[in-house]
Amino acid sequence: MKSFFVFLSALSFCFSAVVSEAASPSLPKGYSAWKKSERKIVTDKSSLFYGIHYIYADKKAQSGYLADNKFAEGSRIVVEFFNIKDNPAVDGPKNMVVLMQKDKRQKATGGWLFASFGADGKPSGLDPVTTCFGCHQKDAAQKDFVISTKKDFK
Ligand code: HEC
Repeated sequence: MKSFFVFLSALSFCFSAVVSEAASPSLPKGYSAWKKSERKIVTDKSSLFYGIHYIYADKKAQSGYLADNKFAEGSRIVVEFFNIKDNPAVDGPKNMVVLMQKDKRQKATGGWLFASFGADGKPSGLDPVTTCFGCHQKDAAQKDFVISTKKDFK
């Protein structure tokens, strides 16, 4: 009987590991040490990007920006968002983090994996195809679906 329970818990562990990996990747550790953009403020409240944000690019993504937005497989870009409180010169509380990771298997979203996370780093479950890809396709189809450019990292 005991071994049956051990088997069951092992099984459920496997399932949860598989499901969470398929549904959403985790936030890369240590992204705050990557190359960081200038501070950016979006004051249009109807925008998903309303607030203050910073873009972070890992080594591969930095090379991709320098090559005028041609990114190698595995490149990772993270954006961290903060609310605007009373004074826009000061970052309010963090509210969201998003990730793009170059992954050729993600054919529906231009060969990029799109994922979003809450301030606590947990997946927020937004659908990449319906929530994310539209804007990137519209604004950056000629730029490997990456809207920002090397100018944002000056
Ligand atoms: C309303 C349009 C819009 C939607 C929807 C949107 N984005 Fe973006 N995204 C942008 C814009 C505009 C930028 C460039 C920001 C800048 O230059 O500072 C951007 C930048 C990014 C970047 C940095 C790389 C780049 O393309 O510049 C990542 C990563 C990102 N978005 C992920 C996501 C994810 C994940 C989602 C879905 C949860 C999403 N985006 C939905 C407009 C959008």
